[in-house]
Amino acid sequence: MSIKFKPKTKEFHLYNQEVSYIFCVLSNGQLGHLYYGKRINPDESYLQFIEGEYRSLTSFVSEENSTFSLQHTRQEYPSFGTGDYADAAFMIKTKDGSRLSDFKFYDFKIQKGKPTLEGLPSTYVDSDEEAETLTIQLRDDYSQTLLELTYTIYENRPVITRHARFEQLGDEVIVLEKALSMSLDLLDSDFKCLHLDGAWGRERHVNVLPLKQGCHSIYSLKGASSAEHNPFLALLRGSANENFGEVFGFSLVYSGNFIGQIDVSPYDEARINFGIHPENFEWLLSKGDSFMTPEVVMVYSDCGLNGMSQTFHSLFRQRLVRGKWRDRLRPVLLNNWEAMTFDFDEKRILTLAKEAASVGIELFVMDDGWFGKRNSDRSGLGDWTVNHEKLPHGLTGLIESIHEMGMSFGLWIEPEMVNKDSDLYREHPDWIFHHPERNTSHGRFQYTLNLANEAVYQNIYQQLHHLLANHEIDYIKWDMNRYMSEVFSPLHSSQQQGELSHRYILNLYRLYDALTSEFPNVLFESCSSGGGRFDPAMLYYAPQTWTSDNSDAIERLKIQYGTSMVYPLSSMGCHVSEVPNQQVQRITPLSTRANVAYFGSFGYELDLSTLSNDEKKAITNQIAFYKNYRHVFQRGEFTRLISPFESKVTAWQVMSEDGNQGFVAFYRTMVTSNEGRQRLMLQNLQPEAIYKINHSKNYSGATLMNAGLVIDKEAFVEGLRDFTSLLISIEKQ
Ligand code: DGJ
Repeated sequence: MSIKFKPKTKEFHLYNQEVSYIFCVLSNGQLGHLYYGKRINPDESYLQFIEGEYRSLTSFVSEENSTFSLQHTRQEYPSFGTGDYADAAFMIKTKDGSRLSDFKFYDFKIQKGKPTLEGLPSTYVDSDEEAETLTIQLRDDYSQTLLELTYTIYENRPVITRHARFEQLGDEVIVLEKALSMSLDLLDSDFKCLHLDGAWGRERHVNVLPLKQGCHSIYSLKGASSAEHNPFLALLRGSANENFGEVFGFSLVYSGNFIGQIDVSPYDEARINFGIHPENFEWLLSKGDSFMTPEVVMVYSDCGLNGMSQTFHSLFRQRLVRGKWRDRLRPVLLNNWEAMTFDFDEKRILTLAKEAASVGIELFVMDDGWFGKRNSDRSGLGDWTVNHEKLPHGLTGLIESIHEMGMSFGLWIEPEMVNKDSDLYREHPDWIFHHPERNTSHGRFQYTLNLANEAVYQNIYQQLHHLLANHEIDYIKWDMNRYMSEVFSPLHSSQQQGELSHRYILNLYRLYDALTSEFPNVLFESCSSGGGRFDPAMLYYAPQTWTSDNSDAIERLKIQYGTSMVYPLSSMGCHVSEVPNQQVQRITPLSTRANVAYFGSFGYELDLSTLSNDEKKAITNQIAFYKNYRHVFQRGEFTRLISPFESKVTAWQVMSEDGNQGFVAFYRTMVTSNEGRQRLMLQNLQPEAIYKINHSKNYSGATLMNAGLVIDKEAFVEGLRDFTSLLISIEKQ
């Protein structure tokens, strides 16, 4: 791995065994992009990719050279208004009202390792040998602003991370109106674009579209990364698919408003822009102030989407998730929400807990409804003290009883929100986002606390600190059940209003950071009405996320398939729930529900007391099975085999880190009459090695990968039925 600077041609080349990223200083001092893709020779020059040509209807940089135009030059971090007419990476408004800037190369620094981004989550290294970092400094003389572009390349991963930082050096106050994390001008647009979209209950469905001239974007203006679009984009070259071809993946480490854009020019070049959404965003910089953008993680794969996903999985699992829980196996949990919603008391909780302990559950989670006057979603949020009417022995008494049963104890919170019917709101009605002269919308009868305000932050921090410091809580589920609206605060000046959304997110990270450092043994799971804030930034603090409120096994195939594009199995909370399913009324076999939920951080979300003895026995066996093999599911290499978006069956595979043990899951979503034979081409095996399939027959890796594994129709214990599945074990001999 290396970062090379060639002084003669002023080219920077970042490369490792797999990938090259090249840019240069242009003749006007700005930065031009040359190449990103499979590794190419670091000793050659690539200036031929700066095309200079006279064209009509074009603005040229100077009269001396009517072939040099920013409009036709690929750039590294393009500015607004000076001849490049595509969307810029940033915009600065100066005192005179102009939005022009001209950042010229000033200096650069190459260092070992990877610096942290102050106040922001990011990927990291455990040793300085794992990565190298290049920081380029540029200056705009007129506004006296410094711009730093930072790039880190990992040694053994096809990963480059990027972010930008602005610092005001001069006396003039400038307004940053747009500050994206990256811009990338690719040499062509021969790609399909893939993103993960949906809504509540059907998050992260895979969408693939051809690139066409014009601008295509995904975004969130909801104050959360959102269920509608995940902050992730991939470009698939030509006919690339799951297993073949070039794929470029971009993942933004941010939980708030974002935009990801692909703009294809009339010359069939593609510009990717990614970062904080500029709408309702502005940031004032006085002398000495700086602004840092979130990090974007760029992954290159020349073996299709699976290759890209496997790189994201190992990076996020090993170098994004932090703390003790990074390397610990996750407990099997039971959550009481779907069994009880708000309707519980200590007796009901303990009855369920006893049942949970008897089937082998390790972590009992008490969800919404335990605090304040929380008997419905109309009251209580904001008051994080126990409801003694429901829990007469308080949290302490309850936790003691759960611990005595041999389980750890988890608790639900939603600290960013308040109901009007709460002591907190009655005391501080001005603490929510609202405009005093306008209507304030609600979501689920709740309002968003203005976490950007220090007093609000301190209050929430104190309440949560008190909760965790005074109770033996082992796990926290941190929920967030509405998107933000009327993002305005009478507590802030008119100039600060454009900063609120991002300041909220910064203080959310600060809050998570404080609590996770003070209580390092607590396992945090993030949640936002299911998967409404499933993003890499959350994983930096909370190693797992509740994947979706939709726990129907068949719907989950699509949700988990899409989520796996970026996020490792260990990060996905996956539970077996009751049938008929509460979200879609579908009845699926218990075995299929488990066969889907095993591929994640596993748990249950149902009333065990309503089940038959046979069902309880089956659940006991499922839990024992998962405990035996959770290292395979939580740490193994996951490969998608057949997509639920393209077929009536779904299949995927996981192999343990050492490659000795694995599972293939085959799900029959819809039965076809007189169906043909199904054959699965397995992946990720050693061709010469012999593998025992389902504890019976042996095949070579080469056979299983090239000729395939034939699905035995007789093996479906439920017979020929919709929603059945097989979990097939693979053991290396
Ligand atoms: C939404 C979550 O996704 C559910 O699992 C549950 O915790 C409810 N909120 C509780 O209000």
